[in-house]
Amino acid sequence: MSSSRVALAGSTGSIGTQTLDVIAAEPDRFELTALGASGRKLDLLIAQAEAHRPKVVAVADETAAAELTARLPQCEIRAGDGALASLANEAEVVVNGVVGFAGLPVTLATLEAGQRLALANKESLIAAGPVVQRARRTPGAELVPVDSEHCAIHQCLRANDNPSRVERLVLTASGGPFRGRSRAELEAVTIDEALAHPTWSMGPKITVDSSTLMNKGLEVIEANELFGAPAGDHGVGIGFDQIDVVVHPQSIIHSMVEFTDAATIAQLSLPDMRLPIGYALAYPDRSTTPFGRIDWSTLSRLDFEPPDLEAFGCLRLAYAAGRAGETSPAWLNAANEEAVAAFLAGRLRWTQIADVLAAALDLYDGTPATDLETVIDTDQRARRIAGEVIERIAS
Ligand SMILES: NC(=O)c1ccc[n+]([C@@H]2O[C@H](COP(=O)([O-])OP(=O)(O)OC[C@H]3O[C@@H](n4cnc5c(N)ncnc54)[C@H](OP(=O)(O)O)[C@@H]3O)[C@@H](O)[C@H]2O)c1
Repeated sequence: MSSSRVALAGSTGSIGTQTLDVIAAEPDRFELTALGASGRKLDLLIAQAEAHRPKVVAVADETAAAELTARLPQCEIRAGDGALASLANEAEVVVNGVVGFAGLPVTLATLEAGQRLALANKESLIAAGPVVQRARRTPGAELVPVDSEHCAIHQCLRANDNPSRVERLVLTASGGPFRGRSRAELEAVTIDEALAHPTWSMGPKITVDSSTLMNKGLEVIEANELFGAPAGDHGVGIGFDQIDVVVHPQSIIHSMVEFTDAATIAQLSLPDMRLPIGYALAYPDRSTTPFGRIDWSTLSRLDFEPPDLEAFGCLRLAYAAGRAGETSPAWLNAANEEAVAAFLAGRLRWTQIADVLAAALDLYDGTPATDLETVIDTDQRARRIAGEVIERIAS
C-alpha cells in the first residue's frame, strides 16, 4: 500500500496534536508533508516540525517567518495570508484543524485543488455554505467530516444504498458541563466551569460552544450542509426538519441515522477524536489503529433526554439561522465568535452569549450568499454589530 501524503493546518491545537498521534501510529500509511498554525505557539510548532519532519511549515503570522527559517533550516517556510491555504498543494489529504472563520481559506483551497478535505473546522462550512458547496464540485474534491457526529453519520449512511430511505439524522450532544441547570442557575457560571467539559478535551472556543449548545446548533447547520443536498450532489436530501438533537451524556453514541422502516443505525466508541481523524485519513478504507475501543463489560448504561431550549437558547437560534440560510449562518457564526471571545476575556456573563446572538440576529440584513467576498463582508459586518451589542450589554 502506498502512503498517503497529509497536510495539517492548525497543528498546534487539539485536533492538530491528535492528528499527529494518528499519523505517528501508522507511519507506513500516512506521510506528513506539511503543517501549519497561526504562529502564536512557535516553540510547539518547531518541536512538531522536528519530530515529524514535514517538507513545508506555514504560519499565518508573517513576523514569525525569520525565526522559523533560522530554527528549521531543513523546511521550506511559508508565512502570511494564504500560507496555510497553500498547503493544499503539498498533499492528497488536508486536515483542517484551524479554529473559527479563519479556517475558510484552507477549506476552499483544498477543495478547489481537487483534494480530500478532512474537515474539523466546521465554521468554514457553516459560514460559507453555498461557496463551499460550489468548491465541492471540483473534480477530485472530497469532503470527509472529522467532527465526531458527522463522521458517525457518514459511517451510518454507508449502511444504506438508497438515499431516499433516510428518514432523519439524530445528532447526539453530551449536554456539556451545565446539563440540567435552569436559566436562573446559569446566571453566575464561571469561565473555568464552562471550560470543564465532562466528556471531551478540546480547544477553548469549541468547549464554550459545547457549554451553550451553540456547538450543537452549528453542527445542525453543518449536517444540513453535508447531507442536505440531493443524492448525487453529496447529500441524502434531508432538511432542518429531519435533523434532530438528543442529549446523550455519556458521549458513546456519536450520532444516528433513522431510516424509513424505523431502523436506526448508530456509531459507538469512547469519546476520542483520533477515531474520526483516522477515519477521514483512511477513508474509504479504515484505520488499523483502535482509538476509543469500548469495554462492553464496564459500559453499563446509555441515557438520552431532549435538549432544554429555554436554558440553552443558542441551539434554537442556530436552527433559525440555518433555516434562514444564505449569509444568516455566517452572521450567527461571526457574532458567536465575538461573544465567546468576550466571555473568555471576562467581559460577558455566560448567559449574555445567547443575548448577544439574539440581538445580533435581530439586526441581520438578509444578504444573499452570492460569492466569497459577500461572505467575508458579512462576517466582518456581523463582528462589528456583535461588538457594539457586547459594548452595550457588557457587565
Ligand atoms: N478539539 C476537538 O476535539 C474538536 C472536535 C470537533 C470539532 N472541532 C473543530 O476543530 C477546529 C479546531 O478546534 P480545536 O479544539 O483543535 O482548537 P484549538 O485547540 O484552539 O486549536 C486551533 C488551531 O487553529 C490555529 N489557528 C487559530 N487561529 C488561526 C488563524 N487565524 N490562522 C491560522 N491558524 C489559526 C491555532 O494555531 P496557534 O496555536 O498557533 O494559535 C491552532 O493550531 C474547530 O473548528 C472546532 O470546532 C474540534
